[in-house]
Amino acid sequence: MTDSAPPSPPTIGVFDSGFGGLTVLRALIERLPAARYAFLGDTARLPYGSKSRRTIARYAAQSARFLVNEQGADFLVIACNTASALALDAIQDAVSVPVLGVIEPGAEAARAASRSGDVLVIATDATVQSHAYAAACQARGLRGIEKACPLLVPLVEEGWTPSPAAALSFAAQAGVAPPQGSQGAQVAVTAEVIRIYLAELNAEAAAAGLHPDTLVLGCTHYPLLRALFERAVPPGMSVIDSAEAAAQAAVRIFNTLPASFGSPLPSVLAPPQVVEIRCFATDSVEKFERLGSRFLERPVGKVELVDLGG
Ligand code: DGL
Repeated sequence: MTDSAPPSPPTIGVFDSGFGGLTVLRALIERLPAARYAFLGDTARLPYGSKSRRTIARYAAQSARFLVNEQGADFLVIACNTASALALDAIQDAVSVPVLGVIEPGAEAARAASRSGDVLVIATDATVQSHAYAAACQARGLRGIEKACPLLVPLVEEGWTPSPAAALSFAAQAGVAPPQGSQGAQVAVTAEVIRIYLAELNAEAAAAGLHPDTLVLGCTHYPLLRALFERAVPPGMSVIDSAEAAAQAAVRIFNTLPASFGSPLPSVLAPPQVVEIRCFATDSVEKFERLGSRFLERPVGKVELVDLGG
């Protein structure tokens, strides 16, 4: 009998322009708790959603190299719709490990949910201008109509989101009043912004003769507003969370990688082990530590500051 140490678990690198991608990390941890995780939020250069393809590709490739070359990631999940839409090729060229973006899983989940074949997609300006979702929908026989909602990322970054408890009660009782006090007023503003964006998008869809029955949340910040979206969409419309869809796809892909990647991983963690997560940010470490736990639904712990250059 040999006395060799068990192989160390693989590291899954998760990258976002900010900390919205923690929604993808949370969904991954639920499914693959036995992996190690390294999360990078490029908070110094957020938002990506208003920048050019060239700049997004440069920032995203640097970030991916950090996770692979310096943190030893064996597999990368691009938990940023904007980087997935505009820079997936640049990221794949920059690193030598498998890379998964969020657009294809989101479109695949829409295909599974939609009966009419008409799908609404909301995302950042850059994602919408790339038409990556429309193309991914078209490749699956769906008609996708996209809308940029640039006010939503800042509202989420400011914490103008329902608390998890309020979100549950919104989801359980459509029409329930938002929470009282200043947080209630903030959430009411966010709800009104969502109502206006969706009314505009539904009007565009109707003018184009579409009958959408599915809404894709094509930005990693939007899952924090999911309860508000569910209240705002017409009855019967499915709301697709691209974070959940990406995590499901990541598990499927990861578990079919060669055993040299440490695959397949068990779906439960043997006690007393704890999930190993290291979080890195390029700026705003305190804000990341404060707000990140809302996205991750657990403390993010100590966030390490990194400098990726210009
Ligand atoms: N992470 C981006 C996305 O999912 C949103 C924030 C940004 O604009 O950088 O599209």
